[in-house]
Amino acid sequence: MSATILSGREAADALLNELKPKVKKLDPKLVIVQVGEDPASGSYIKQKFISCEKVGLRSEHKHMPESTSLEELLKVIDDLNNDNDVSGFIVQVPLPDHLNDKIPQITRAVDPSKDADGFGAYNLGKMFLSTEYEHLPPATPSGIIRMLEHYKIPIEGKHAVVVGRSNIVGKPIAIMLLNRGATVSVCHSKTPDIGSITSQADILIAAVGKPKLITADMVKDGVVVIDVGVNRTDDGLCGDVDFEEIEKKASAITPVPGGVGPMTVASLIRNCVNAKERQVSA
Ligand code: GUN
Repeated sequence: MSATILSGREAADALLNELKPKVKKLDPKLVIVQVGEDPASGSYIKQKFISCEKVGLRSEHKHMPESTSLEELLKVIDDLNNDNDVSGFIVQVPLPDHLNDKIPQITRAVDPSKDADGFGAYNLGKMFLSTEYEHLPPATPSGIIRMLEHYKIPIEGKHAVVVGRSNIVGKPIAIMLLNRGATVSVCHSKTPDIGSITSQADILIAAVGKPKLITADMVKDGVVVIDVGVNRTDDGLCGDVDFEEIEKKASAITPVPGGVGPMTVASLIRNCVNAKERQVSA
């Protein structure tokens, strides 16, 4: 079997095109706060601004120095919360070391109605309750759901196996799949014999950040594989799954790069548009 390649670029463009009329009507604005010079963040942020431009969304880069204190960052967040022209904003992670362990406090400071990442407890809680309460769901998981929908891959009744339990991907995608009728298993670093569980997956979501952790012997024929990993190795970028070998067994698989990444960006933009829509109707 040769797998369908699930192109995030194609699915993201379809979503961005759908958003264009709303962007034109509502004229929202997205602000991206960056602290320091993490090189990977630099390239992710560039992609985000390119997509904003594609869809005609106003955007601004607030780039603060590495030495920024917690108080200075919280002041910027407070200003963004109170700026009526700003519809949504994000604080790009990772932050410099002195701020990284303050991420819960920083996330809490973001007004939930402008939380374009969908990282805060209010938006996560709504996502948890049911699909109809999703308003600003976390961007990567909602991008994965949109990718499955774009390629008409059914979720209900399927066994979805999630490898990884982060607050921004593993846990929320497990809930979003559960709320759509999947049977969900979650594996992580403490799970013994991960392969015995991943080999049961109809849909496999790999989000651990370990290059090629998932090998062909760990999946069954016909599996749909969503690879969230972006690992920088000596041989270049690679995902969490062994793409070349698993492609031969899977019915569909996302590439890295060009898979989940563009969907995260398009979902972030969708959240910003939806945030503005709710702000003007409030
Ligand atoms: N760093 C890598 N991906 C993301 C993302 O989606 N949002 C934020 N805030 N930081 C990131």
